[in-house]
Amino acid sequence: MAKNKTVFVCNECGYESSKWMGQCLGCEEWNTFVEEVKIVGPKVPKKVSGQLQYREAKPTKLKDITTNKTIRTETGIGELDRVLGGGIVEGSLILVGGDPGIGKSTLLLQICESLGNNNKKILYISGEESLHQIKLRGARLGVKTDNIQLYTQTNTDIIEKVVMNEKPDILMIDSIQTMYSDAITSVPGSVSQVREVTAHLMRLAKQLNIATFIVGHVTKDGAIAGPRVLEHMVDTVLYFEGDKNASYRILRAVKNRFGSTNEMGIFEMCNKGLKEVLNPSEYMLSGRPINEAGSLVVCGIEGSRPIFVEVQALVAYSSFNMPRRTVTGTDYNRIMMLIAVIERKYGLSLVDSDCYVNIAGGIKMNEPSLDLGLSAAIISSIINKSIEPDMVIMGEVGLTGEVRGITFAESRVKEALKLGFKSIVLPKINIKDIKVPEDVKLMGINHINELKRYVFNSGRIRET
Ligand code: TYD
Ligand code: MG
Repeated sequence: MAKNKTVFVCNECGYESSKWMGQCLGCEEWNTFVEEVKIVGPKVPKKVSGQLQYREAKPTKLKDITTNKTIRTETGIGELDRVLGGGIVEGSLILVGGDPGIGKSTLLLQICESLGNNNKKILYISGEESLHQIKLRGARLGVKTDNIQLYTQTNTDIIEKVVMNEKPDILMIDSIQTMYSDAITSVPGSVSQVREVTAHLMRLAKQLNIATFIVGHVTKDGAIAGPRVLEHMVDTVLYFEGDKNASYRILRAVKNRFGSTNEMGIFEMCNKGLKEVLNPSEYMLSGRPINEAGSLVVCGIEGSRPIFVEVQALVAYSSFNMPRRTVTGTDYNRIMMLIAVIERKYGLSLVDSDCYVNIAGGIKMNEPSLDLGLSAAIISSIINKSIEPDMVIMGEVGLTGEVRGITFAESRVKEALKLGFKSIVLPKINIKDIKVPEDVKLMGINHINELKRYVFNSGRIRET
């Protein structure tokens, strides 16, 4: 006889417990446990035939396995193709996660349009919006292809039948948290439903060789299960991020069975949908202040691309006993370390000063090669001296104040030249093989102290 059992499941990570807990032992999030009913089937007795199957079961030699080349379909949206590792792989399951309202449905519909124009048959299943709403969005995006079929449904058994009948090339599920399977009693959006529905879709995708996109909302309040509980099931996990108030969006691969992770694509949300940002550095640097103390340009690597961003620091007299330090866009502890290095090795004191550090544009970057630039920004703000606007500073700073080598130095310099930077500050160890045109100054430095000579002598002195 089937028996029902009550368990408590964490909506963030899927951790199960027989008792309710305030904090999850798995992911340490608070208030994420919900009650779920599990149907425990009758125990299946071990059969003799099962033992027979063991004997017949045989592994295959790796070298005997023949493969068809993985067939990839380019979506035609360059930024997305790069993140996917060159296009959509047949029969793969792609999870697109992100905050509600960030633009997931918009991205999906644009992928539909692009693939539809490429003669792919697409089935878009929505459990959130009516056909009318999707039509309106389509009109706004200028969707013209007639290869998209829409269907509003939330029951996976019915979806399976429709998919079997239609045999699309691409299936879109918007969103996983609205779908449910009759096989499970818990409500849509709960951990077990989300897992069951994903498993169901995965069987369908692999069986019929349909590439499937699944939208998953990221939630903070824990009312519905987050996409993290199914990251391990799918082939590719993309996260769509960005500040809802800023117009650009970043698409990041955090898992990819068919390509590299760490790639990212940048889009801008405009009134006709998402537009690819082909030159992110120009985009990030547009509108930066010129000749202001505390602002300068650094170079980070995202995926395989160098990206130039503006970093800002403001050091101000503190009226608190404990000076305030605020860091946005990069690692707090790293900045605390740099402040200590500046105090001990560069000889400037910040004991009675608040210090604010920011990577402009809302982008997040954590990379040792930003150290020297971040330090220079803080120093620039303390001494109130601006840095030449056509200078870019890169290098890792160690605890003794030494400047250490960075990765991809050559490609960073190349990109800097393309963007028109005229002075480039680099770790000394990196400059040997790098050639630059005559009008470009390449400065190799060994110690943070050398910023005095190379960077701040040329800056204008400004009165306060
Ligand atoms: P949507 O794709 O519905 O988000 P999600 O599916 O992730 O919840 O995007 C909704 C937001 O995008 C909404 O705030 C309006 C904005 N938007 C634009 O700015 N331009 C557009 O062309 C479209 C379609 C949406
Ligand atoms: Mg949506």
